[in-house]
Amino acid sequence: GTRAPHARDLLAWYDRHRRALPWRALPGEHADPYRVWLSEIMLQQTTVKAVGPYFAKFLALWPDVGVLAASPVEEVMKAWAGLGYYSRARNLHACAKAVVADHGGLFPASLEDLRALPGIGDYTAAAIASIAFGIAAPVVDGNVERVVTRLNLMETPLPAAKPAIRARVAELLDSARPGDFAQATMDLGATICTPKRPACALCPWTGACRAEAEGRQEEFPVKAAR
Ligand code: ADE
Repeated sequence: GTRAPHARDLLAWYDRHRRALPWRALPGEHADPYRVWLSEIMLQQTTVKAVGPYFAKFLALWPDVGVLAASPVEEVMKAWAGLGYYSRARNLHACAKAVVADHGGLFPASLEDLRALPGIGDYTAAAIASIAFGIAAPVVDGNVERVVTRLNLMETPLPAAKPAIRARVAELLDSARPGDFAQATMDLGATICTPKRPACALCPWTGACRAEAEGRQEEFPVKAAR
């Protein structure tokens, strides 16, 4: 049988292997909510590699949410050119204005208030809450779905499996380090628990993964026939 997976296994791995990404805080510190928000919006449909230069450009042009809100939306659209999915840029500007108008220029520190802002859905609200504010919210993106369905041999297809995946992440996360846990699961999915030929020998949860035990890693996540 397999041993139980623990957050501490993953966090010990993350402490050694964390990717140094421009929006990440130093170990032990919470990140700037503005940077976390900006990066998470950019990363919604775009790779880490492609986001890098745009993230740097936006921070140089608009170092905080107040200056972004005060800038004409056309300038924001122009700077976004090349990233794609332009509704993200329009919502980015609308969100900056709402943070200034409704929250005094500071991102709100609750899931519910974050979720109410333009362009912020369940995933992004949970990511900002955990990474910037240390709130223990389950953060589930495609990478995390792959990791968790493999760990637990979840045979229910996506999207029906989503509530069970969220529940499993909520049980597994470390409420002392929710932001690190979220980013560690993302990094694990991006670098070790890959769709094809995952590097299970390097995984902090080797021996705790039910799909690995059965040699069925590449069968997960199961997707509904379309
Ligand atoms: N993809 C989306 N958010 C991310 C983050 N905070 N770190 C790495 N990859 C991500």
